[in-house]
Amino acid sequence: MYVKNNLGFKEACLDSFEKEPNAEKRRGLALDVFDPQLFRKNAEIVISRLEKYLSDSSIRGLALTDPSVLMKAAKDMMTEEHEGIASLDEEKLGAIVDLYIKTGIQVHSPGYMGRQFSGVIPLAGVFDLISSIVNQPSSFYEAGQLPNVVERIMADEFNRFIGWERERFVMVTTSGGSLANLTALLAARNDKFPRIWSEGTPALEGQPRPAVAVSVDAHYSICRAAGILGIGEEQIVRLPINREKQICIKKVRPSLEAAAERGMKVFCMVASAGTTSVGAFDPIDELADIAEEKNIWLHIDGAHGASLLVSDKLRHKLKGIEKADSFSWNAHKMMFVPALCTLLFYKNKEKSYGAFRQDASYVFEKDPDVYTEFDSAEKNFECTKRPLIMNLWVLWALYGKALFAEKIEYLCRLTGHAYQILKDEPDFETLHQPEANILCFRYLPSNLREGAFPDFQVAIRNRIREEGKFFISKVDIDGVGALRVVLMNHQIDVDHFRMLLYEIKKTGQELLKGRDSDSLKKEVKNG
Ligand SMILES: Cc1ncc(COP(=O)(O)O)c(C=O)c1O
Repeated sequence: MYVKNNLGFKEACLDSFEKEPNAEKRRGLALDVFDPQLFRKNAEIVISRLEKYLSDSSIRGLALTDPSVLMKAAKDMMTEEHEGIASLDEEKLGAIVDLYIKTGIQVHSPGYMGRQFSGVIPLAGVFDLISSIVNQPSSFYEAGQLPNVVERIMADEFNRFIGWERERFVMVTTSGGSLANLTALLAARNDKFPRIWSEGTPALEGQPRPAVAVSVDAHYSICRAAGILGIGEEQIVRLPINREKQICIKKVRPSLEAAAERGMKVFCMVASAGTTSVGAFDPIDELADIAEEKNIWLHIDGAHGASLLVSDKLRHKLKGIEKADSFSWNAHKMMFVPALCTLLFYKNKEKSYGAFRQDASYVFEKDPDVYTEFDSAEKNFECTKRPLIMNLWVLWALYGKALFAEKIEYLCRLTGHAYQILKDEPDFETLHQPEANILCFRYLPSNLREGAFPDFQVAIRNRIREEGKFFISKVDIDGVGALRVVLMNHQIDVDHFRMLLYEIKKTGQELLKGRDSDSLKKEVKNG
């Protein structure tokens, strides 16, 4: 219509609206939000603030804010215009960006040593903007053509480190490692118990109960997935671990046999590469041999450590990965792209379809053509899905493998140095030799009286977090609290780690002093 009347799109829309008081102004504003120049202007406000944020190399942890204070600050930024569309307040936009940045974990600061999400490579973030604007959901080729093609390209790129037969394997992307683990377990269950999908659990009557074997140190998403699948907590076979926190291979066969005697059929064994708590790599190669011998699906949870595949120096940690039936890999951890981007690999493409078997004539094709053959919706849980692969691909395409390999090797080397530093410190206890970039330890100064301060490590961690200079995490090792650092950010060097140790000692001593004066006060009161 607007072509016919020689009008611009906006004018044509306005022209077609029925007349009412202020209608033109309001509709003009409604259309303004789509204005390309306004988009550029807003983007510049945001980008200039992000530039400032990225330029700040100060050591800082988390500015932990009282939620009620933050809620008030957020509410104060909301427009008071409740009838019509408010006109854009650029100052408020800037203030919202500042508030968002300030109150988050500072993943780009050398003080950030606490969690597994990346200090991202900024170009990936810029590229993410494209996905948000062009909005191409990528489960179907027709909606997201490039993302679907690129998934195939990246699958082949990564398969260089695995070596599967090109025509037989497949890779899909999922929204996170937890969903990838659930998807793989579902595919495994449907493969080993094919009637459950259509008949439900009655199909199992008179048969051994389906069970899953996992390390005692597996990520909680595995047991959660088993719960969702109706496996039941009692059918989770816990595989013991050794001193290095890896599955103890000698104990695997006896554990599986004991489970069989108790009326279970272990259909899936899950190994970690590496574990969340300490970054330990289970012995995949040997586990794969046992899995094959016993007709068990082997899934590798490589959410954290599968990225080591891209390094020629570190790939050996995943020896045997080509024998696994499936493995998951979070690129939003050690591939330094924004969350989420998880890759799920299956050795046998056909088995990936086993995870989900819906009929939905509005989207699924009975006879795929050259386009729909690229759809991934039948293999992944999501219907509408972000084009998760794009940020990773753009970095890989423009910089190549070495960018990732060097960053990963640096962070693992740095963690090794940190471990050596701790070994030379008499007041620190090391708990494991790091295999990747996660390191757990305890501060046990000589003036800490045994049992006098049961949550000492956790108290140190929390006090450090509140002080806002460093951000570290905590974990229970062998049932006792420990400090945990995860080096995910290449701004960190050995000196920063030394500064952290200084902070731990200072905080620990302050806590002990406080505790002593508290107990003194108590004694005086009681006395
Ligand atoms: C070993 C392991 N598996 C699975 C997950 C879950 O991944 P996501 O947070 O992407 O769901 C994590 C997360 O830290 C992990 O460390």
